[in-house]
Amino acid sequence: MKNQKLSDFNKNERPVFHLTPEIGWMNDPNGFSRYGGKYHLFYQAYPHGTNWGPIQWGHAVSEDLIKWDRLPYALMPDRDYDSGGCFSGTALTCSDGRHMLMYTGCRMNPQGKELQTQCIAFGDGVIYEKYEGNPVITASVLPEDGDPHEFRDPKLWRETDGTYRAVIANYNRTSGAQVLLFRSTDGLAWEFEGVLADCKGKPGWMCECPDFFPLDGKYALLTGTMGEVDSICRIGTFDSEHGRFCEDWWQSIEQGFDFYAGQTVSAADGRRILIGWMQNPQTAEYREIDLPINGQMSTPRELMIRDGKLLQKPVRELSDYRTEEIVCRNVKLGACEEETRLDGISGRTVDMEISIKPDDRFELFRMRFAAGGEYYTEFTYEPDKSMVTLDRNHAGPGKTELTKAQAVVRDRGGRLDVRILLDRLSAEIFINDGEQVMSAVTYTDRRAEDITFFVKGTAVMDIAKYRIKENK
Ligand code: FRU
Repeated sequence: MKNQKLSDFNKNERPVFHLTPEIGWMNDPNGFSRYGGKYHLFYQAYPHGTNWGPIQWGHAVSEDLIKWDRLPYALMPDRDYDSGGCFSGTALTCSDGRHMLMYTGCRMNPQGKELQTQCIAFGDGVIYEKYEGNPVITASVLPEDGDPHEFRDPKLWRETDGTYRAVIANYNRTSGAQVLLFRSTDGLAWEFEGVLADCKGKPGWMCECPDFFPLDGKYALLTGTMGEVDSICRIGTFDSEHGRFCEDWWQSIEQGFDFYAGQTVSAADGRRILIGWMQNPQTAEYREIDLPINGQMSTPRELMIRDGKLLQKPVRELSDYRTEEIVCRNVKLGACEEETRLDGISGRTVDMEISIKPDDRFELFRMRFAAGGEYYTEFTYEPDKSMVTLDRNHAGPGKTELTKAQAVVRDRGGRLDVRILLDRLSAEIFINDGEQVMSAVTYTDRRAEDITFFVKGTAVMDIAKYRIKENK
């Protein structure tokens, strides 16, 4: 690797509140769970390069979802059945108290195609050992026309009666992408229960990384979609008798560029917390070539259902890392045709809440951040169209075709509330109390710290800005 020195990267450039691999590649979150009084987060890792390679499981633990400590790699692709990689999966506490992981073992068949089976490992929170009876679910149990090459990413849970369930993504040559439901009494012997949900009519030809959980009296089914830049949340009910999910509503989880393979954990206080890979298969090549890492996790998000739709907010634990508060109220914008700078409003590790209210004629609001020299990333709001746009065309190094994302927001008569989280290599924008989220990885020179505002017409803005402390 032609890399910047790791010590320099760690000091000045490593994201402050996003989990990153110590070195090399990271993709999906795996095994997001609570065990031994801590949150555990595993992830798809390849430490020998900054591209995807034979994948193993990285491992980190946290007490508050913000400060993570890395532990030894938990799973290596060292068995015949997972020689092509230990693909994504989940974790739970099994009846005898051990931490149990279920993951997809991938190996190549003689024709060079991936064969995917589901495997188990047990551990104590640090060291994990693969079960000698692996694989525990093979393609032999797939429904007719189920494709053994596209059968992956088990999500595990336990029912109140102690039995185990898993949902696993599969491509069916007749029916298209499906999420399949499996059951087990001991976690080792599994039987196919049925098709939980068909994904036909949804974006993408194949779904990946399903998560399925109760939320605010409903059930939510999350999937990543292959062939489209999308992660989807379906909200509905679970007909447990027939093992079938009945959908009322679906929406994209992310309106920006970089969120994929989201996985949730239930916090001790009952909150449902989502974390995702802050990138996606289409943007994986978008990177700054000299960095010793490629990949990071999103800020964990609290999930809620309001009026039948999904809301996402940054976990409240992030507020403990706020410092240096600056509050400005009733800032009148638009009087002059120039970018406005406000005292103390700048930085690259920022948590900032902005409320915009229209005043007379209000045509456009624009905020530029990670700005300096030729660089900036731009968020605009056009009230007449209720349209927001995130544009990273001028963000600096890294090549991607995904540079401009747009979303229609709820019409609130020109009002808009945004919370923006900036870290050294990213921005996440939560719109109108989490109705929509736009995330973008940016590789802008870390010295580009300006934040500026511009309004066409006039508008009034309240702003509260904090620096996020380093959590070493
Ligand atoms: C999603 C994914 C998963 C797979 C893993 C391999 O990004 O393709 O379906 O398990 O990545 O790293």
